[in-house]
Amino acid sequence: MRHQQRTRIMNKQLQDFETLYLPQVNTFLKTHLKTAANQSLLGQAMTYSVEAGGKRLRPLLTLATIVSLGETISPAALQAATAVELLHTYSLIHDDLPAMDNDDLRRGQKTNHKVFGEDIAILAGDGLQALAFDWLSTSSLSSDIVVKLIQQLAEAAGPRGMVAGQVEDVSTTGTVIPLAQLQALHKRKTGALLEYAVQAGATIAGASQTQDVQFRRFGAAFGLAFQIYDDILDETATAAELGKTPHKDVAEGKNTYPRLIGLTAARKALSDSLNNAQAACDALAKLDVDSNVLRAFLSYFKD
Ligand code: IPE
Ligand code: IPE
Ligand code: MG
Ligand code: MG
Ligand code: MG
Repeated sequence: MRHQQRTRIMNKQLQDFETLYLPQVNTFLKTHLKTAANQSLLGQAMTYSVEAGGKRLRPLLTLATIVSLGETISPAALQAATAVELLHTYSLIHDDLPAMDNDDLRRGQKTNHKVFGEDIAILAGDGLQALAFDWLSTSSLSSDIVVKLIQQLAEAAGPRGMVAGQVEDVSTTGTVIPLAQLQALHKRKTGALLEYAVQAGATIAGASQTQDVQFRRFGAAFGLAFQIYDDILDETATAAELGKTPHKDVAEGKNTYPRLIGLTAARKALSDSLNNAQAACDALAKLDVDSNVLRAFLSYFKD
C-alpha cells in the first residue's frame, strides 16, 4: 500500500521482525473479525477500518517485548497482543468523526463515517473497543496475566489515559496551550496506548519489576516521540505517504509541537524523547533483555 512506503525505509532487523510477525497479526485479525459480530452491517463497518491497512505497530511492539525477554510467541500471546489493534482502530474511527477531527481519509481509504455514516461509525468503534477486551479475556493465558492485561489496557485507554488525552485535545483546539501541557496531553492521547503495548509484552513474558520499569520508560518515550513525529509529519509529509490528509492540524487550530515551538525545536524535542527511549534500551540490555529488537523500532522515526 502506497502510504506505508515511509515504514519500508527501516532497518534490516525491524524488517526481519515484521516479515515474521506482521502476517501472523494480520491473519489473526482477518480470521477472528469475520465471526466477531452477529450483525452484518456492524461486522462490515468494524472490519472495514481494521482491514483498511495500518502499520500494526502496537501489536508488533508487544510481540517484540516478549521476544526480547527470550520467550516464544504462543497462540494465546498472539491473540492478546493483537487485541490492542482493535482498541487503537476504534480510537482512530472516533478521532476522525466530524465532531472530533473531521477527517475524510484514514489508512489510505475513506474514513469509516464517510462510508457507513456517523451513527454506524460510532457503533463500530464501540464494538471494536469491547472486542479488544473480549480477545484479552478469552486468550487462554493464565488468569493472573489476563486480569493484569485487562486492567492495564483499561487504564491506558480509559478516563486516565487515551480518552482523557483526547478530551484535552478537542477541548483546547482553537486555543494556545503551554508546551508542558501539550506534552502531558500527547503522553495521554497517544503515549498511553503505546506504553501499554510494551507493558503488555512485559506482562505476558513475566518481566521482573526492574525490567518492567525500563520497558514502560521505553514505551512512554516511544509514545511521546510518536505523537511529536505525527505532528511534524502533518506539516511535512504528503497524503500518499501518510494515508491521511496532511496540513489538517493548522487548519483545525490544533495544538501541536511545530505550531507551539516551530519545526526545528519540534525535531529537537523528538530527538530528546528518542534518546530517552535509547537510554531505556541500554538499561534493559544490562537486565538480561535483548533490547535490540525494541531499538530497531526507533528506525520508524526518519528525516
Ligand atoms: C495514528 O497511529 C494515530 C496516532 C496515534 C498519531 P498510527 O500511525 O499507528 O496509525 P496506523 O495504525 O498505522 O494507521
Ligand atoms: C490521534 O491524534 C490520537 C488518537 C487517535 C487517540 P491525531 O488526531 O493527531 O491522529 P491523526 O493525525 O488523526 O492520526
Ligand atoms: Mg485527534
Ligand atoms: Mg486526528
Ligand atoms: Mg495527527
